Amino acid sequence: MTQPILAVDGVGRTFGGFVALEGVTTAFMPGKVTSIIGPNGAGKSTFFNILSGALAPSRGSIHFKGRNLTGTKQHAFVHLGIARSYQITSIFPELSVHENVRVAAQAGRSRYNIWTHRDRLRDLAEKADAALDAVGLSGKRAEAARLLAHGQQRSLEIAIALVSDPEVLLLDEPTAGMGPEETKEMVALLEKLAAERTILLVEHKMKMILGLSDRILVLHHGRLIADGTPRDIQTDAEVRRVYLGQNDGYA
Ligand SMILES: Nc1ncnc2c1ncn2[C@@H]1O[C@H](COP(=O)(O)OP(=O)(O)OP(=O)(O)O)[C@@H](O)[C@H]1O
Ligand SMILES: [Mg+2]
Repeated sequence: MTQPILAVDGVGRTFGGFVALEGVTTAFMPGKVTSIIGPNGAGKSTFFNILSGALAPSRGSIHFKGRNLTGTKQHAFVHLGIARSYQITSIFPELSVHENVRVAAQAGRSRYNIWTHRDRLRDLAEKADAALDAVGLSGKRAEAARLLAHGQQRSLEIAIALVSDPEVLLLDEPTAGMGPEETKEMVALLEKLAAERTILLVEHKMKMILGLSDRILVLHHGRLIADGTPRDIQTDAEVRRVYLGQNDGYA
């Protein structure tokens, strides 16, 4: 049987006395698209922050290909092949599109000698170009990032995550703030990326999730309340009660 690429065992997170995530145990198989859904404040981003090493769990453990990553820094996650994008657009608006990706590529490298090796700088620039090509932004490489349309900025963030060539890509609401056209383009991009890597997605747009996902996890008040195929989730009574019934995008 194939081994999970990423797994968590009893991970929880508290903020002060508030429990944002409560004892989640699950595993992700390589090459699959898994979506994490749930009402606002359910703990989705907190879960993502833990899975990507941005936030340490208050309890529980995280394993990547069987290796225990609990307590290691986020750059160690990136080095091993886990990268993510953020719910809020987080690019450098004044830098060019290409510079945004190149800076990320540079940040992923070890510090020593980086400035003195021309080959390495060329290598970083080429990696940035490849990532921009993968998200369809090559034509915009010289433009200031702030001049891009919203959907293109979200694609740029994916390019930034892709530059480390991750095996696992976590995307926190990549279609946030997008209209139907931009969403359609993002779905096409995600389908393309899914052919080559494991994708974890937080999203609110139900139609999109049902079409794209191999598997859906549902969080509610920090607890995992359902885990199954899109079909399982659509027919799950508790999920319908806490989430689907009140989600406009579902109709
Ligand atoms: N750094 C923090 N300090 C204190 N509370 C936090 C922190 N981060 C998250 N929380 C709280 O934890 C809960 C879960 O937040 P989280 O951002 O994970 O939810 P979410 O499911 O991503 O919601 P949304 O759909 O609105 O993005 C919320 O009540 C939030 O206010
Ligand atoms: Mg969130």
